[in-house]
Amino acid sequence: ILTLLFSELFQIATASCRPHKHIMFLKTHKTGSSTVLNMLYRFGDERGLWFALPTSDHFGYPNYFSAHHVRGYQSDSQQHFDILANHMRFQKSEVEKVMPPDTFYFSIMGDPVTMAKSAFSYFKTISPAFSQAESFHAFVSKPWKYYNPYVQYSHFSRNMMWFDFGFDHNANYSESLAMKGESVIRKTFNMILLLEYFDESLVLLRHALCWPMEAIITFSMNMQQSGSNEEMLLTENQERRLRDWNALDWHLYKAFNHTFWEEVERFGVARMEQELVILRNLRAKQMQTCLLEDGKLVESNKISDADLKPFQTGVKKILGYQLKPDLDNATHKACLNMVRPEIPYRKLLEAKQSLSAPPSLEKNSKM
Ligand SMILES: *[C@@H]1O[C@H](CO)[C@@H](O)[C@H](O)[C@H]1NC(C)=O
Ligand SMILES: *[C@@H]1O[C@H](CO)[C@@H](O)[C@H](O)[C@H]1NC(C)=O
Ligand SMILES: *[C@@H]1O[C@H](CO)[C@@H](O)[C@H](O)[C@H]1NC(C)=O
Repeated sequence: ILTLLFSELFQIATASCRPHKHIMFLKTHKTGSSTVLNMLYRFGDERGLWFALPTSDHFGYPNYFSAHHVRGYQSDSQQHFDILANHMRFQKSEVEKVMPPDTFYFSIMGDPVTMAKSAFSYFKTISPAFSQAESFHAFVSKPWKYYNPYVQYSHFSRNMMWFDFGFDHNANYSESLAMKGESVIRKTFNMILLLEYFDESLVLLRHALCWPMEAIITFSMNMQQSGSNEEMLLTENQERRLRDWNALDWHLYKAFNHTFWEEVERFGVARMEQELVILRNLRAKQMQTCLLEDGKLVESNKISDADLKPFQTGVKKILGYQLKPDLDNATHKACLNMVRPEIPYRKLLEAKQSLSAPPSLEKNSKM
């Protein structure tokens, strides 16, 4: 049954639509976005698509995105880019200077409680409110005590999604403001994925983009070591405090969660279940093929291969993968692309793109 279904799915995807190749992904923080980025890097890399890459490590973050942050951008030329996906603070008018009009815009959101837990350790050294709090619980019980709205990186401890979408994270919550932000996002973004329903998100995305199943097989990237989780356990009351503290983000999450499940209904609940089974089977098989000990994650400092070493920041160990040593060349290359962390992959794409000029808009306006 599975193989039959599998071939049917490929047929549906290839017969009735053409793969989308102009893509803008707003890479939000602590939402699983590094895994999405790896998927986009692989998709574009394998097909020779042109990436809008930053001139430095990011697009001037936490300042607003500007087209001039894009490597090779020239305001007066007909060049165009296919994929724009690195961290930025979104600014539509500038993004539109870089991306073609038929670009598919998407992003990913998470529950502010989940995100705060991850952000607290990851941004502990750079976000002042986190570094000054004695513990996560101390922060949650009195965020105002540690929070200074005027310092850089304050947004990592308050409404960080709202900030990444380009809005003021210090604005006081009102329903009308929250709904206004929501509607601005809806006008631009074709789809919002959810961290907590990552695989369901990939299935919906694959159909929206008309991508083959193998393009959405991903391994989790940029994972933090969980260690003792007791300090991160919150009571219902504490969770409510955290959602109130991040009220603008909480509004966005609820609103786009609602839309997400409507889309799943429209897609078909049974059909979704079938695709999830296929996706998870393929991922498990791919892990067995590529990785030592079925994908056991190891600490960054224990990985010697620079191509596989994730960027270490924050107070917890960032984890990476170890490839099996005896893979044939083609398998090795495919596996390496799946586990190559963000920075080495970006550098590889930079080097590849430095060898030629970006495609021009006329020549390549077929999508
Ligand atoms: C939000 O409300 C607080 C307290 O009511 C006030 O001090 C602060 O100035 C307000 N912030 C903004 C951005 O309006
Ligand atoms: C998300 O949507 C589902 C399905 O409608 C619902 O059960 C769940 O409570 C929602 N979660 C939030 C945080 O709104
Ligand atoms: C595999 O890659 C190695 C090193 O790049 C190369 O020397 C070798 O010829 C390749 N083997 C095949 C079968 O392509």
